[in-house]
Amino acid sequence: MKVSVIGSGYVGTTLAACLADLGHEVTNVDIDEDAVAAIEDGVAPIHERGLDELVAEYGGTRLRATTDYATASKANIVFIALPTPTDERGRIDTSIITAGTEQLGEVLGEAEEMPLVVVKSTVTPGTTERELIPALEETSGATAGEEFDVAVNPEFLREGSAVSDFLHPDKVVFGATADRAFETLDELYDPLVAQTDTTVVRTGVREAEMIKYANNAFLASKISLINELGNICKEFGVDAYEVADAIGLDERIGSQFLRSGVGWGGSCFPKDVAALIAAARETGYEPELLEAVVGVNDRQPERLLSLLDDHVDVEGERVAVLGLAFKSGTDDVRSSRAIPTIEGLLNRGADVVGYDPVAAENMRAQFPDIEYAESAADALDGAIAAVVVTDWDEFAALDGEFDAMKRPVVVDGRRIVEPRDGIEYEGLTW
Ligand code: UDX
Repeated sequence: MKVSVIGSGYVGTTLAACLADLGHEVTNVDIDEDAVAAIEDGVAPIHERGLDELVAEYGGTRLRATTDYATASKANIVFIALPTPTDERGRIDTSIITAGTEQLGEVLGEAEEMPLVVVKSTVTPGTTERELIPALEETSGATAGEEFDVAVNPEFLREGSAVSDFLHPDKVVFGATADRAFETLDELYDPLVAQTDTTVVRTGVREAEMIKYANNAFLASKISLINELGNICKEFGVDAYEVADAIGLDERIGSQFLRSGVGWGGSCFPKDVAALIAAARETGYEPELLEAVVGVNDRQPERLLSLLDDHVDVEGERVAVLGLAFKSGTDDVRSSRAIPTIEGLLNRGADVVGYDPVAAENMRAQFPDIEYAESAADALDGAIAAVVVTDWDEFAALDGEFDAMKRPVVVDGRRIVEPRDGIEYEGLTW
């Protein structure tokens, strides 16, 4: 099939490359000329495991890129994969996606046969019907449900494993009203469904929008719940990881996402939970549980630091922050728990030295004045304490490096450092 993907961010590029891999002819449309040129040259504009190979294989052939929206009018399906950032009240800011949708509508008005328009971006329930369909109708002069259809097909991709998550999904969700929209999506995803046996969920437009939020709200809540249980475990002198291993054996609970620690960050959970809370409040419903989920997450870094306070006064002392990325395997520092951790240390008057194998440069934009070390060993050298914020494997292998510390206090927010003789080890929830 002929597919256009509007937006070449991490979702759009992954989608475009994976659909090319499934045998479709895909064109990525983006205003960013550098991203377009890169894809045309077979170079991925973003870093995602497995993406380089796909873009190298199909870029310039089955995977094309352009700045010209008009190509979308020749497609069977057009995906909208534009960002929906957070506004100052926690809601999604739809200005970018609406502007892109209007541009799309203008060219689709010229199409001989209008393609199925599929919303891939994460939007709160009702957004497609209230904002995007009217934008398409006004600019194209065509009527949804008659001359064209609109569907919602949310993504559940994790950073760092987006390609593999796309190609091995646990579900594919189609939200639409018209049978022909479901049929077009079935045809598009058929090669994937045939090779993976994944479950296809056919549902309404609002339900599809909500499934994405419910998925992320549930996972974020699961982590905040295990973090709260972990905090209680710590008070009782109980090892929260042994507790988690046991309760995870209950199939209703499941063993994943039970690693308690300094909390969740990244580009999705914080943004999506905030947007769901804001959207719920606008209806008059007060989502108290989700507010508490955010509250637990917000307090974990300070809890980590209060454990540190029990060991040492860090004022005027060098303190190493091990890990700056929001999780291992990425250089993304958005909503990383390292940010409030560093802020808390600076408020205590500490000299902060950060170390991360890949994310230091990104953190420098937030904290230009702290020191960044080239290695964990350099960060630890002379430090009175270390706090561990990201679960990089290399921290598990640290050993003699602690000997160079002024005082070997290690407060671990991810249960990654091996406690050993000669260090004062404190786990956040164990
Ligand atoms: C998440 C969702 O998993 C994905 O489905 C959605 O599309 C986007 O948001 P991602 O942000 O890439 O993906 O990160 P994920 O691997 O889910 O981790 C999120 C955060 O939770 C990280 O900060 C991680 O450190 C934390 N986490 C995860 C825990 O603290 N404990 C756990 O047990 C698991």
